[in-house]
Amino acid sequence: MRSDHATAGTALQTDVPSSRPWWESAVIYQIYPRSFQDGDGDGIGDLAGMLRRLDYLAALGIDAIWISPIFPSPMADFGYDVSDYCGIDPLFGNMAAFDRVVEGVHARGMKLLLDFVPNHSSTAHAWFAESRASQESAKRDWYIWRDGAPQGGPPNNWTSDMGGSAWAYDATTDQYYLHSFLEEQADLNWRNPAVRAAMTDVLRFWFERGVDGFRIDVLWHCIKAEDLPDNPANPDYVPGMGEKFRVLQRHSTNQPEIHELAAAFRALADGYGDRLLVGEICLPVDELMAYYGSPDAPGVHLPFNFQLFDAPWNASILASLIKAYEAALPSGGWPNWVLGSHDAPRLAGRVGEAQARVAAMLLLTLRGTPTIYQGDELGIGRVAIPPDRIRDPQELRQPGLGLGRDGARTPMAWDERPYAGFSAAEPWLPLHGSWRTHNVACEDQNPASMLALYRRLLALRRRHRALSIGAIEVLACEGDVLRYERRHGDEHLLVALNLGSEPQPFSVPAKSEIVDVLASTRALRTLDGTLAADEGMVLRLGAA
Ligand code: NOJ
Ligand code: MG
Repeated sequence: MRSDHATAGTALQTDVPSSRPWWESAVIYQIYPRSFQDGDGDGIGDLAGMLRRLDYLAALGIDAIWISPIFPSPMADFGYDVSDYCGIDPLFGNMAAFDRVVEGVHARGMKLLLDFVPNHSSTAHAWFAESRASQESAKRDWYIWRDGAPQGGPPNNWTSDMGGSAWAYDATTDQYYLHSFLEEQADLNWRNPAVRAAMTDVLRFWFERGVDGFRIDVLWHCIKAEDLPDNPANPDYVPGMGEKFRVLQRHSTNQPEIHELAAAFRALADGYGDRLLVGEICLPVDELMAYYGSPDAPGVHLPFNFQLFDAPWNASILASLIKAYEAALPSGGWPNWVLGSHDAPRLAGRVGEAQARVAAMLLLTLRGTPTIYQGDELGIGRVAIPPDRIRDPQELRQPGLGLGRDGARTPMAWDERPYAGFSAAEPWLPLHGSWRTHNVACEDQNPASMLALYRRLLALRRRHRALSIGAIEVLACEGDVLRYERRHGDEHLLVALNLGSEPQPFSVPAKSEIVDVLASTRALRTLDGTLAADEGMVLRLGAA
């Protein structure tokens, strides 16, 4: 038996045959720019800082970076309230700094995705100012304006995802405008061809500047039922869930026409060659699948698959979930998996650090494109935010319900300098409590760290194409052990993950002999018929 530990920082170029698009075997890394690296000493991450950290990402072994919004914005929702779709917010730098990042990413053989926020603009956008000015404005119909209900109050019962009614009254013209999120984020009217044309120009602008694709914010929200009927009440609503759950979003989201819009985005992207569109869509699997589109009208390349965010951490439940997702994929639809984001609680906070290592192995050995969220590779867990440091409007508007997202948005910890090398000034959000040990410099020195594990797994995935593009077969679970096989060409790998905190019996399938233990979430060792507590392994099997 031979151990095969990968070294960090393996070469980056992917060797994808030209018949397969690059993103099928790629690993995406999400940067939350406010919290990645500050370059100008104001306590907020920016493009100059990001540029300095590109070598880190290259050495980590990821293939593509998705940057959450960096466009001009009043920052009511930290950039998801865009006031100019074709600019860079001065907080993050300027267009020259952006161009340097694009160049630096490409020079290292990586790709760059931006965040496209089509459902709503900031109310500070010039389009909205014009729309708001009068009912006769040429841009009135760029947003969704309605009279109040005859009995008074908002036009219908739709609720905002951030709490309260989805309608804001505007005295200038005595009408309400729709905002599915904050009042500062007015929903654009995608049924208006002028909006489509203007936003198409936005996509063109960035494609022509060299970006390799987009993550599309709340794609399933973009089109609403034409006559805006009341949403049905949610029979499962109980107070404390958050206002958005009061009603089912039947008429305010996921309308049939959305697929034509997704197909139009796709056709535009394909017109530029080799680009990638990832759709943010939070829907049950059967409805999610429709976002792949059809052979005649393909939709986004990757409708984000968020199921691991809140799936019970249990081997047989995860096995069923993986099988059901794979089975639901349309022909030609490429899978993808996400473990964390700037919106979701950190997984390590939910399942603990030992299981977060198992989760990393799961993410990086499943079939499909994985997305890693910044900081998960350090094992950052739950971060308690002191009340006076809360910044997320979601928490400020609906306090105490556990909806706050600041805990997932705390700064990256780079080293043991003050503020963890993130900034010379106090960061906009506090650091995680364990930053003195859970930082890049410290973990870099420690082969047992989460960072070292991520690097090993990323290198392994790059070396063994069975792990990225190979077929998957999920095996029957044994106790707490989730097992699946991956095959590509002559390569036959077995992944076995102990999702529990007790040792589990484990044997390789009959007719196999082990050729190699390729990776473990713990120290590499020989097999002895068990998996240790919280242990995951990748094995190369050979026929007996
Ligand atoms: C999803 C984004 O990820 C989230 O951060 C934001 O608040 C909403 N969309 C609204 O844009
Ligand atoms: Mg800064």
